[in-house]
Amino acid sequence: MPVVTCIEDLRELAKRRVARAIFEYVDCGSYAEQTLRANRADLEAIALRQRVGIDVDRRSMRTTMAGQEVAMPVALAPTGLTGLNWADGEMLAARAAERFGVPFTLSTMSICSIEDVAGAVTKPYWFQLYVMRDRGFAASLIERAKQAKCSALVLTLDLQIQGQRHRDLKNGLAVPPKLTLATAFDILRKPGWALNVLKGKRKSFGNLEGRIPDAKSLTTLSQWIAGQFDPTLSWKDVEWVKNLWGGKLVLKGILDAEDAKIAASSGADAIVVSNHGGRQLDSTISSIRALPEVVDAVGGRIEVWFDGGIRSGQDVLKALALGARATMIGRAFLYGLGAMGEAGVTRALEIIRNELDVSMALCGLRDVKDASRSILRAP
Ligand SMILES: Cc1cc2nc3c(=O)[nH]c(=O)nc-3n(C[C@H](O)[C@H](O)[C@H](O)COP(=O)(O)O)c2cc1C
Repeated sequence: MPVVTCIEDLRELAKRRVARAIFEYVDCGSYAEQTLRANRADLEAIALRQRVGIDVDRRSMRTTMAGQEVAMPVALAPTGLTGLNWADGEMLAARAAERFGVPFTLSTMSICSIEDVAGAVTKPYWFQLYVMRDRGFAASLIERAKQAKCSALVLTLDLQIQGQRHRDLKNGLAVPPKLTLATAFDILRKPGWALNVLKGKRKSFGNLEGRIPDAKSLTTLSQWIAGQFDPTLSWKDVEWVKNLWGGKLVLKGILDAEDAKIAASSGADAIVVSNHGGRQLDSTISSIRALPEVVDAVGGRIEVWFDGGIRSGQDVLKALALGARATMIGRAFLYGLGAMGEAGVTRALEIIRNELDVSMALCGLRDVKDASRSILRAP
């Protein structure tokens, strides 16, 4: 096994091991991928401020997210089809997160179900909700998350209609994965992945069992999904979800100061500044560029979290410096899962923790909660 020192190493390993259609589903963004690239480029353009002569012997990365203690300000973001990177992937990632002391968020579009994950962990995890046209079904998901004792509901607002990822169409991405002439060559070259995924408890959407009318006639994932999400989703529905749920509520997919102000008055506990990892509106701004205006707009009335482009602890520190209380990671943990299963998720978290810790020290910062613009160089 090669020595893994950074998230990019995990990405390379995942690329070699996971079937191309699944790896590219994770790796790619929508349309021309301008926003996907901007997420990285704008983070890279920010410079940390090196300081010396400050005692940084005792450092702390502990903080809270929506009232929950976390070992570091990093949660696993909700991601669809996680269990096709590695059999039972959601259960493994949830377990790795629990052992590490950070939150795991299960996507509505997961392979393992709400109940599967509840059975794999000992502490509460978070559930992410997509509001479907069928409100009765959305309500039943909320009820299942309550029964499973999930400790926060993450309501995603930026997928009222689905952006297109060219690669998913070209690859004929199908759920459950299909062996076709087009995919056979790649899958046969990835026997380890194929045998492993075959062993998994499920190969299709665990939370939607019985809801997909005739899975066999569906050729691509996009075809089916496109008809499910509710484009009428409005702030009134946020209120409806909040009342039904009654617990900690996180609104994900805020990228604009005006929306952030409305969110801050909605009674939710946190917002996630996010463009869905460059997978939805292409040509919109990077999340890191949107972060300062959102932080200013809400003026401390609601916790502001950040995701989009994080591949290192340095990236986490930059987001905190620009006013985020905490962050979420998507691809960084998925590469770990695809490369090495549960151990890979743990490795991804360790890498980010170690980078965050060393970078804090070299910026003269002892407590992650004290991160501010003073640890950044002016552009
Ligand atoms: C493969 C993949 C699947 C995703 N599926 C979901 C999802 O089901 N629900 C959701 O709210 N966000 C989803 N997202 C967006 C992530 O929650 C998160 O916003 C994004 O990954 C952050 O960017 P990063 O991957 O650069 O860290 C997905 C992202 C990826 C990469």
